[in-house]
Amino acid sequence: MEITLSVIKADVGGYVGHSSCHPDVLQKAKESLERAKGKGLLIDYHVMACGDDLQLIMTHQKGEDNEEIHKLAWDTFVDCTNIAKRLKLHGAGQDLLADAFSGNVRAMGPGVAEMYFTERESETIVIFMADKTASGAWNLPLYKIFADPFNTIGLVIAPNMHSGFTFEVHDVTGKKKIMFNAPEEIYDMLVFIGSPHRYAVKAVYHKESGEIAASSSTQHLALIAGRYVGKDDPVCIVRAQGKFPAVGEILEPFASPNIVKGWMRGSHHGPLMSVSFCQARATRFDGPPRVIAAGFQLANGKFVGPNDLFDDPAFDLARQQANEIANFLRRLGPFEPHRLPLDEMEYTTMPEIAKKLAPRFKDM
Ligand code: F6R
Ligand code: MG
Ligand code: MG
Repeated sequence: MEITLSVIKADVGGYVGHSSCHPDVLQKAKESLERAKGKGLLIDYHVMACGDDLQLIMTHQKGEDNEEIHKLAWDTFVDCTNIAKRLKLHGAGQDLLADAFSGNVRAMGPGVAEMYFTERESETIVIFMADKTASGAWNLPLYKIFADPFNTIGLVIAPNMHSGFTFEVHDVTGKKKIMFNAPEEIYDMLVFIGSPHRYAVKAVYHKESGEIAASSSTQHLALIAGRYVGKDDPVCIVRAQGKFPAVGEILEPFASPNIVKGWMRGSHHGPLMSVSFCQARATRFDGPPRVIAAGFQLANGKFVGPNDLFDDPAFDLARQQANEIANFLRRLGPFEPHRLPLDEMEYTTMPEIAKKLAPRFKDM
């Protein structure tokens, strides 16, 4: 059976502040997608939150970038924004950057990860969702999952994975894309994806069969809006088992925290903490950045799950290390590298203060 899996997300208002989603907003989204399922537009759906981001997880047979599906997501976000406004939630509608829907939500604020595939005998899917971070946050874990034999032993000993994977890398500033084959071209690829602010891994393909293995959202809110309007809080879909990495190989990079951009006012470096669904509430200094992993089996496009994959004591140490890194970085207060460089901060007072102090700067 041919399936399209679409994960479309937006922050339509936070409860409380920017920490999480209100249950009424989630309920509204469920009603909207239930109607679409009733009409046959969707095969199935699952609505959930990661921090203040509302996640619409949908299966259908319309293909990627489908106008009806994107309009459904947009209309759902608009309905949910109305609830958020009524409750006076914080930042109601913050990610809806356009006034009206125009064909595809990709350039309108919401984050989108989609993939089209033939459902396997057993289709295992992991969906990662992050809050308080930017779209390049998946570069390091995707590299480890699909190209690092110290992470993924299947690359070495599983005959159906041994030939490797192909990475589609987007230059999000220059609007160009390039394909890299792993393992042959990993040194070339790392020059680029080691700079996740500019280069983001958009998708990964099984090299021999060409089948899609992973797909991520690479929308850069600041670039869409032309100004800093919030972090992207990206999502990523990964297919697991068989010719793809095992669930445990996919989760393994999250057993030690990566350092990402985001956190308070989208203007800091902080540890990406792997947490269970109920811990995805960015509270300390509006963070630290969180990632959750929802595992599903698909049965003819229907979701069996989610299984809360980081709800496991095996990730306790990662959480503890993330807290230690958080403490360490917080000690730097307003200094780099905790605070982002001037040109990457979401908030800045620099132009105003520079203007005020300009007469006091003397040539030397
Ligand atoms: C970061 C984030 C928060 C806000 C902060 C100030 O992505 O969402 O850290 O930037 O709470 O929020 P405002 O400006 O809405 O009062
Ligand atoms: Mg928010
Ligand atoms: Mg968010």
